[in-house]
Amino acid sequence: MAQNRSGQTVTLRVARGIDARMSPRTGLSVFKDQAKLSFDYVPEKMPHREAQMQRVQALFRPLVEAGTPSTAFLFGPVGTGKTHLSRRFAADLAKTALEAGKAVEHVIVNCRQRMGDDAVLLGILKKFDERFPDRGFSIPEKLQTLRGQLERRKVHLIVILDEVDALLKKSGSQLVYTFTRWGEESGRSTVSLILISQKTDILDRMDAAARSTFRRTNAIEFPRYNRQELWDIAKIRADLAFHPATVPEEVINLVADIAEEYGDARYAIELLQYAGLLADEESGEEVGAEHVRGAKATIHPVQVEERLKELDMTRKLVLLAIARKAKKKAYLTTGEAEEAYKIVCEEFGEKKRGHTQFWKYLKDLDALGLIDAKLSGEGVVGKTTIISVPEMPAKILAQRLEASLHNGPGKK
Ligand SMILES: Nc1ncnc2c1ncn2[C@@H]1O[C@H](COP(=O)(O)OP(=O)(O)O)[C@@H](O)[C@H]1O
Ligand SMILES: [Mg+2]
Repeated sequence: MAQNRSGQTVTLRVARGIDARMSPRTGLSVFKDQAKLSFDYVPEKMPHREAQMQRVQALFRPLVEAGTPSTAFLFGPVGTGKTHLSRRFAADLAKTALEAGKAVEHVIVNCRQRMGDDAVLLGILKKFDERFPDRGFSIPEKLQTLRGQLERRKVHLIVILDEVDALLKKSGSQLVYTFTRWGEESGRSTVSLILISQKTDILDRMDAAARSTFRRTNAIEFPRYNRQELWDIAKIRADLAFHPATVPEEVINLVADIAEEYGDARYAIELLQYAGLLADEESGEEVGAEHVRGAKATIHPVQVEERLKELDMTRKLVLLAIARKAKKKAYLTTGEAEEAYKIVCEEFGEKKRGHTQFWKYLKDLDALGLIDAKLSGEGVVGKTTIISVPEMPAKILAQRLEASLHNGPGKK
């Protein structure tokens, strides 16, 4: 599976069994530059995100002017431009800073893919030294190496921790804290921090010490896009990626209508791309409403799909058990979940794993954001962990998992 720089998995074309190289026989294609629709492409300008961009720029003004490190926290649902805005911002800032004679670099780490502070640090170090070994260095040694790197290069580093809730869940806030205090310890080199999360409660997940630098004033909200905003985003992208007059306005209208429910720009762009691929399969002359409908039937808005693919058989079974239960109940206890898991194992002829293992799987699914596990309030039997399925209707989740499990063990 290919992965782009921001760590998202690029499966669209492969997963749909369409390979662009094999598409139109005649060489006719609606696409002028399909790369403009890929997850790798970070738009120069992001319409309808001017306010957010200005907020981040304002927060980082002290960095440009006086070299003072800064922090920002970007939050909002999937597909609202958080990752791309942070990349665009950091790249533009590096340019401005360079003109002012200051060296600023940035590194973005997706904390869902690099699980835990050790892995996150490794991701950062690989930016400066691709051959930095995966194993053999402790966290303090890695931090020391990073300090050395930054001092040698005399750069200010902006560390962007994307999907940071996964890191906080797995490792706590120690690493975030270390970065916010970077200059105090090493004196010379400095680090700024941008945290990104879909969830708003990450500040509550931090220790008081880490939280104190992350005041709520540093938080910038990314709301879902409305229909008009999605329309504009789709239209601009279509003009960049398709030949003139191959995407009629009704196609943009339809894309905006469909994506509006989720307010998700990525979904809108994927719909466009897939509709284009379908048009190419047919004649390569024009994208039509029917192609958009075809695209809608195939692709699904939420990243859940991609995360499901990464699960092994056992974790799929655990999630299926939870999804089935969650159809009828908003919150389950771990006891109920484990009971349901037992039944699912019997159904699929799989060996049930022990309690401790089960607990670990819950933790993993929680860190992946596929379930939400939290401690309930004090009850008769004391605190217990309760589980819910946050992102997708449990029924759809269960169907997806069943389909993938019936494809045979280990099938992705
Ligand atoms: N305002 C915008 N203008 C143009 N493209 C956008 C805008 N917001 C999001 N996108 C595009 O939508 C996709 C999803 O954005 P992304 O930054 O990955 O969202 P998030 O990180 O919030 O899930 C990317 O391809 C991005 O380029
Ligand atoms: Mg993102």
